[in-house]
Amino acid sequence: MGEGSTPLVKLENLSRMLGVEVYGKLEFLNPTGSFKDRGMTVGVSVAASFGYRIVAAASTGNTAASMAAYARRAGVEPVILIPKGGIASGKLSQIQALGAWILEVEGTFDDSLEAARTAAVKGLAYSLNSINPYRLEGQKTIAFEILEDLDSVDYVVVPVGNAGNISAIWKGFKEASLLGLPSIKPRMVGVQAEGASPLYKAWASRSGAVERVRNPSTIASAIRIGNPVNAAKALRAVEESGGLMASVSDGEILKSLRILAEHEGMLVEPASATSLAGLIRLRSEGVIRDGRRVVLILTGHGLKDPKALEFIAKGAGFRRTSANTTEEALLKLEEIAAHS
Ligand code: F0G
Repeated sequence: MGEGSTPLVKLENLSRMLGVEVYGKLEFLNPTGSFKDRGMTVGVSVAASFGYRIVAAASTGNTAASMAAYARRAGVEPVILIPKGGIASGKLSQIQALGAWILEVEGTFDDSLEAARTAAVKGLAYSLNSINPYRLEGQKTIAFEILEDLDSVDYVVVPVGNAGNISAIWKGFKEASLLGLPSIKPRMVGVQAEGASPLYKAWASRSGAVERVRNPSTIASAIRIGNPVNAAKALRAVEESGGLMASVSDGEILKSLRILAEHEGMLVEPASATSLAGLIRLRSEGVIRDGRRVVLILTGHGLKDPKALEFIAKGAGFRRTSANTTEEALLKLEEIAAHS
């Protein structure tokens, strides 16, 4: 469906504000509105070539929307397990419109994933969760594209949930030279939301032991995950690249969401803004130094989460008025022009 080859855009205003060179990799411009499409095109193709008729995945919404779309094109049946009440409304509409089977499971994403994995083991469906290696093969192309566009990168900042994407991107950087791309190895920065940050805690404790967060909570529903399946791979990516993990509060995530809208005109979903929140935090702590070149992976589209958009709109002051006639509309416009 034309997935991949997303724009890498210099965020000029943010660069000035933060004193570093910031680029955004606009992954929300993929066909279903998130980076998941890169992996799903591979995963679903493999499932179809193996002769599976049903594909299944647990999801916080984006994996589900992507799987549903690619399954439709491949003519296989998509079955989705979601945490009941735990996904953004735009994603639910998207999945419903694509006619996927939706199984709402009481509990967290981690409970949904357990059910999905057991179903796969029993041979009921082909599993397309990010434990599926083919998906990560698709997602690693983010690294190749960054290297096609830039001749140096100091940091790549990635929001982390189930931890597949940061692992895939690092794999891409490690393999790039095999394709004749420059061998540039940025530091990988994984950012989690405070209330769902088992990897950050494992990294910060230096023990590397990952403890499951039983009741993960954050406004960023896409990364509301307490037991990431790719934990070991992600921690290895951070370690090998000389990078780090960070954690940010919901307040910092919402502030970043608003900054991206106000200063760069970009509407992303809260999980995406987590990467900017991480960068702001690491700048204020002096971890990322002046003038460094940073790529933020902007993972999911703002239109998927209308509640979050409403929050930004409130901050922008709901500049909304109405008119009963065209004459009245003209008067209102004159007023607006006078105040601008
Ligand atoms: N950003 C968005 C918008 C996501 O949807 C996800 C994951 C992530 C970041 C984190 O990526 O899991 O590879 O570390 N969403 C999954 C889903 C869990 O079901 O859509 P990750």
